[in-house]
Parts: sequence; structure tokens; C-alpha cells
Amino acid sequence: MNILVIGSGGREHTFAYKIAQSSKTNELFIAPGNAGTSELGTNLPISVSDFDGIKSAVLEHDIKLVVVGPEAPLVDGIYDFFQSDEALNSIPVIGPSKEGAQLEGSKEFSKIFMEKHGVPTARYQSFTADNLEEGYSFLETLNPPFVLKADGLAAGKGVLILDDINEAKAELKEMLENQKFGEASATVVIEEFLNGIELSVFVLTDGKNYKILPSAKDYKRIGEGDVGLNTGGMGAISPVPFADEDFINKVEKRIIKPTVNGLQSENIDYKGFIFIGLMNVAGDPFVIEYNVRMGDPETEVVLPRVETDLVDLFEAVGNQTLNEIELNVNPQTATTVMLVSGGYPEGYEKGKVITGYDKAEDSLVFHAGTRLNDNQVVTSGGRVMAITSFGNSIEEALAKSYSNIDKIHFDKMNYRRDIGFDLT
Ligand code: AMP
Ligand code: GLY
Repeated sequence: MNILVIGSGGREHTFAYKIAQSSKTNELFIAPGNAGTSELGTNLPISVSDFDGIKSAVLEHDIKLVVVGPEAPLVDGIYDFFQSDEALNSIPVIGPSKEGAQLEGSKEFSKIFMEKHGVPTARYQSFTADNLEEGYSFLETLNPPFVLKADGLAAGKGVLILDDINEAKAELKEMLENQKFGEASATVVIEEFLNGIELSVFVLTDGKNYKILPSAKDYKRIGEGDVGLNTGGMGAISPVPFADEDFINKVEKRIIKPTVNGLQSENIDYKGFIFIGLMNVAGDPFVIEYNVRMGDPETEVVLPRVETDLVDLFEAVGNQTLNEIELNVNPQTATTVMLVSGGYPEGYEKGKVITGYDKAEDSLVFHAGTRLNDNQVVTSGGRVMAITSFGNSIEEALAKSYSNIDKIHFDKMNYRRDIGFDLT
């Protein structure tokens, strides 16, 4: 069958790589894609938010399966757009309905959902400009640090963690009254700080059944030792050593089952990935956030470990027969290291020629912010390429990623040399 992947990052290159391996794939399209995806299929110059453009492409290329990478089109209702169109409604879209995407699109929605279905998460209350004073009072009841979250999507920047109560009050006012994060902070969730170590667990659900995909840990800060500004993610490791069977069993029983059952009992149409951001608090899992898509760069370590044909899994999601499929996972460790543009996550230059990536041996090179310019691959974003390797240990896998990175060059290239530092 012909398949369309929506998005343009390392996550989507990894989807394309797995989908291209399936004997069920006939033609593969990526919209808009990057230089890496163009080696595996046909890039279509359509923005992820151009639903009419996507519709025309789906009909023109006889596409029979659509896989949505990023959250924005899901929160904007691409699933519902397909469902409500007679020409499109028989085509499975991997991703939740607009309502289901609120698990990521609204922190308040996700907190209410967790509370209703008994999913362990930090104690919270939400506030608007109308009850700012009550927000101040709630802050007084908490111990520092204080966690303030803009309700809506804020490009990963909407969470503030502050040590000082006066600063927390000032920021709350900035968010609610002065729209620090625009409309996204018209409502703010204030929650208890959870002390522990973070990890992510990924689930693929057809709305009734689910498969638990490998766990992963990503490294969000720009600086080594987890310092400096937040990025989209500088590297990732899968599996997470402390997420052993006992821990994952707790996650399944306390979080995954109530989440999938909760979606079903609320009649929320959800056929796609659930990315559960967790805090391991002294051996007990608490949900920090839901995302309604795969993580990036977590995908670059999770999917290469999945041995089951990805198209078979997606077909089963569409047919709600995921229970009939066995999920096989490579027990080796996968690591990925992200190469980024100098200056990222602040301002950076684009258009730098990338050399040496084709010399990588025994690693997978996933393109993120790259494009073709006169037959040369050049940088086109902050996160440029993710170098994924397998090993029998974190150290062994990382050594391969780093030795291949030594062959790769572009002007002002930057990367973290300490991915996995807290796990080894
Ligand atoms: P989020 O956008 O919800 O993932 O939050 C961004 C980051 O803030 C998370 O990855 C955590 O590191 C941190 N964080 C969010 N909520 C909490 C919490 N309740 N306690 C401690 N850290 C948190
Ligand atoms: N790596 C974090 C994310 O995809 O949200």
C-alpha cells in the first residue's frame, strides 16, 4: 500500500526508515520530510497544517495509511478532518482525535483526566486571571520548588520551575495577566514538585488494546551535566536500566490500563501513540505529562529496537486488532546523539554543508533539520541529525555513535558528549 508520513524531523525519518522496511509498503511519501526521508520515499512540499493540501496528496497518490508525527496537526484535528470527509474516512490515520489530543494540548484537561481515572500524578490546581489571588494562596500551601504550567501548547517552553515564592507569584501574574505564553497561559496549572528521575514510556493503542513499546530517557538540556536551556532533546537511551520489569508492571497497572480504559469509557477516539512522561519517585511512577505522539529523539532509539513490522502494527491499530499481533523487541541497548547547529536553542545559522555522515559505519543516521541544496545536504534547523547505535551496554552503543560523529562535520556543529551520564 501507499503510505504518507506527516512531519519533517528525526522522528519522521525513523518512521520512514521502519515503514520502508515493510514488504507491505509500496510507495512511501513524506510531507514535508527532509533530505534523509527523500532517500526512502518522495517528499511532498506540503505543510503539516495544510489539511486540504494533505487531502489532495492522499487522493492523488492513492494513499491508504497516514502516520502523523508531530502534535500540532493532531491538536488541530487532522484525525477528525479525515473522519468527516467521505473521500478520506476509510483511510486509517495513526494519531488520536482532536479530543484525545487534548491530553497533550491542555494540561488542565490531562490533569482532570488523570484525577478522574485514578492515574498517579502531582497534586494540582488550575487558575485563570479571574482567580489569581487564589493562585497565590495555593502557592503558599506548597513547598518549593514551585511548578507553573501554561495550559496550552507553548513549544516546550510553557513550564516554569521556581525556587522562590515571590518569583513564583510574579511569574503566575505574568502568565495569567500579561499572557507570557499568549493564549496558552490564559489558564495555568500549578502543581506539586515531584522529586525523582525522569523517563518515558511509549504505548501504541487501537483504542481497545495496547502494546507497551520500549522505555527511553532523553536529555533535554543543551549543556553537559543537564545544565542550560531546554532543547527539543539532545540524545536518548533505550531501554532505561532502572525501568525494570517490576517498575514497568507498576506503570502498566497504575497508568497504562487506567489511561486506555479511561479513553474508552469517555468515548474518546484514540488510535495512536501515547507518550507518557514519568517521574520515578522512590520506585513509584507518577505522570508528569502525556504527549499524543512519539518523542523526538526518543523515536530514534525506540523504533529501531522494534522488530515487529511497523506497518503490520499500524494496520492492526486501524482495525482494532492489536491484540492479535506479537510485539518483538531487540533486547540490545540503543543510543542516539543529536548533532545541533551552534547557538541552538537560541539563534543559529542555517545552510551549512554537512559532510561525512555517509561514512558512518554500524550506526543509523537519522536526519532532522536537513535539506537538499544543489545535491548537497545542508542544515535547515536547530537539531540536524541523530546518530543511533546498538550495543550490549550503553557504553558500547555510545562509543559507536561518538566514533561516527568524529567523521561528520558542519560549521559550528555542537553535541553533548555525556548522553547517558546518569545511567552508567
Ligand atoms: P512538561 O512540559 O510537562 O514535560 O514539563 C517540562 C519538564 O518540567 C519536565 O520534563 C520535568 O523535568 C519538569 N516537570 C514538570 N512537572 C514537574 C513536576 N510536577 N515535578 C518536577 N518536575 C516537573
Ligand atoms: N523529546 C521530548 C519530546 O519529544 O517531547
